[in-house]
Amino acid sequence: MMRFLLQPGGSVSGTIRVPGDKSISHRSIMLGALAEGDTEITGFLEGEDALSTLNAFRAMGVQIEGPDNGRVIVHGVGLHGLKAPAAPLDMGNSGTSMRLLAGLIAGQSFAATLIGDESLSKRPMERVAKPLRLMGAVVETQEGGRPPMTIKGQGKLKGIHYDLPMASAQVKSCLLLAGLYAEGETSVTEPAPTRDHTERMLGGFGYAVEKRGAATVAVKSGGKLRGTQIDVPADISSATFFMVAAAIAPDSDITLTHVGINPTRIGVINILRAMGADLTVHNQREVGGEPVADIRVRYAPLKGIEIPEDQVPLAIDEFPALFIAAACAVGKTVLRGAEELRVKESDRIQVMADGLKTLGISAEPTPDGIVIVGGELGGGTIHSHHDHRIAMSFAMASLRAKAPIVIENCDNVATSFPNFVELAQRAGVRIQVEGGR
Ligand code: S3P
Repeated sequence: MMRFLLQPGGSVSGTIRVPGDKSISHRSIMLGALAEGDTEITGFLEGEDALSTLNAFRAMGVQIEGPDNGRVIVHGVGLHGLKAPAAPLDMGNSGTSMRLLAGLIAGQSFAATLIGDESLSKRPMERVAKPLRLMGAVVETQEGGRPPMTIKGQGKLKGIHYDLPMASAQVKSCLLLAGLYAEGETSVTEPAPTRDHTERMLGGFGYAVEKRGAATVAVKSGGKLRGTQIDVPADISSATFFMVAAAIAPDSDITLTHVGINPTRIGVINILRAMGADLTVHNQREVGGEPVADIRVRYAPLKGIEIPEDQVPLAIDEFPALFIAAACAVGKTVLRGAEELRVKESDRIQVMADGLKTLGISAEPTPDGIVIVGGELGGGTIHSHHDHRIAMSFAMASLRAKAPIVIENCDNVATSFPNFVELAQRAGVRIQVEGGR
């Protein structure tokens, strides 16, 4: 098992580009595979989660070259060219792979079983199984709606309208992918805006997606995807660790380049600014239908805030790091409406509260959030519960800690951010690694 060993103090500086966006990397393989012709991807995230998606498509007969320094060529087989896999498809730690693939497989004429690691095997899949059954798929899950999940594509889905019970881009995307194969129209209404990479990328592949108002999106079957080029922006969720690092560590000044700033992903920018962070956005441009920019953060004292609930889905993966910012802020930070955090790679409310308490911070979980009172951070041993974002968040806490921090079970950092340690060291974090697979 890999551990992070962190010496207290320091600051971060310099200009870095974090790896490619995880959500966009998954979708680039999926839509590239379903397209007619080749798709060339650059900036692809060579993390384990995106590789799980890539390997699943190889197992369904798609020829994929790379990844080679972030470059991947997908030889698309068209919407009806996938082949039945010979064995269960292993999604590793990746909820996105499992939920999006469930929708896609529901549209095939073959059956497939999706399996995952210990963490993924505990995560709720009923949220996709239920609407897919309404569309006519046969979906089997284990007790409590957990994986493994077997989807028997009947080759005859019917379009439905579905009101999402929770703000989830994974469920929305699952249904849109199934909708490519369903008779008639499939439409989804979300209770709050969530990341819209699937909709944007379908458009980029030449597939018509209809937006109705702010909350509803619809697709019809019968169209075609055409191979294209995709330049994956740097992942704002990975950039977040360095944004928080600079926001909490005196004397810091860091620039993150080519970061995806899709409006459905920028909750972290809004929340850090509301806390008083000195964060500026430069050189805004558009790459392949996604907005990107360079983000500069210089140290400035933070204050605790009540996090606006409308920012929750827009910062859903950034809360572990934001809780570290809250622990370093003056006063109280209150988060509500974030019960989804309890069903991520770990129960991120409980696991973060436990870790912050170990460091001497007052952190009280509530059913749908947390109350954190900023204070002086001590040291100690943190259990990451195999959750990549918990491990990376506490690594950044060391910048303000008064004593060493040890973080257990850090192997899964490679799911989303394979070169995290190298970039953190280069920026000025006093991090060393022990053990590991
Ligand atoms: C993702 C959607 C989010 C996010 C996950 C990636 C995606 O999950 O937490 O890391 O790529 O669609 P939910 O849709 O379950 O909130």
